[in-house]
Amino acid sequence: MPLTVPPTAPAVAPAPAVAPATVERPSRTATRRRLLMCRPRHYDVTYSINPWMDPEKSTDTALAVLQWERLRGLYRELGHVVEEIDPVDGQPDMVFAANGATVVDGKVYGARFRHAQRTAEGPAYLKWFESRGCRELLWPEYINEGEGDILTVGRRLLAGTGFRTDPRSHAEAQEFFGLPVTGLTLVDPEFYHLDTALAVLSDEEVMYYPAAFSEGSRAVLRTLFPDAILATAEDAAVFGLNAFSDGRHVLLPEAATGLKAQLSARGFEPIGVDLSELLKAGGSVKCCTLELRGL
Ligand code: ARG
Repeated sequence: MPLTVPPTAPAVAPAPAVAPATVERPSRTATRRRLLMCRPRHYDVTYSINPWMDPEKSTDTALAVLQWERLRGLYRELGHVVEEIDPVDGQPDMVFAANGATVVDGKVYGARFRHAQRTAEGPAYLKWFESRGCRELLWPEYINEGEGDILTVGRRLLAGTGFRTDPRSHAEAQEFFGLPVTGLTLVDPEFYHLDTALAVLSDEEVMYYPAAFSEGSRAVLRTLFPDAILATAEDAAVFGLNAFSDGRHVLLPEAATGLKAQLSARGFEPIGVDLSELLKAGGSVKCCTLELRGL
């Protein structure tokens, strides 16, 4: 219908329509990921290398396997590809595949563990990549515990130190990947790996627990991610930051209720997971998951 000027045009423009009461949430897109996991067939807590591990407490390997299978099932339902590495007898922590390497652009930066109890895992993971036909592999000179401490955010790496990973590995990783690495210092032994204190949500967003970091590192995080979701002590204590995001779905320990609400408010779809058995070793969702970028 052609627009006609009303005979008595109002002197002032009508007030704009009132904005809807709901805050607009960004729409989120999931991208399909390739993941490596390790069945906790030999899982147990037989030594203590972090404050969560108490060898006196009993563990239930069958339940650990069941909880782990549920996590694997969720990944597959969401459309992700899960590959598996055979667990090695005598390596009860090998389920924490995130520690096995760092993989970006198809390049594999091997892991070298801090504690003797886990050193055999480094070569076991690297061998898996070799047998899978990966060409660009680096056996590291310096101690680094894979994606436990080296997280990829877009085209940048965040690398933790303080408890496990040697800060000299940060330069080694930067040289190998050709990507800028930002070092972050962890100060609370309960959050001994970067992936227990910070989770990557998208190419430019993270969530983290400020108290787990040194003052300088907190300032760095504020500069890089001024709008980051900040976790409360309660959510951090249930390992809520040990989360995996595909850009839309965020899998995290179900007890992290505050984080779930904050994620929903930002348009993410939080999915609670129960990995209570693995928490006895100081691990959860992200620890069980190594992302194979570019493979
Ligand atoms: N018990 C293992 C350790 O202390 C847990 C590793 C958890 N993995 C992780 N990516 N945060 O080494």
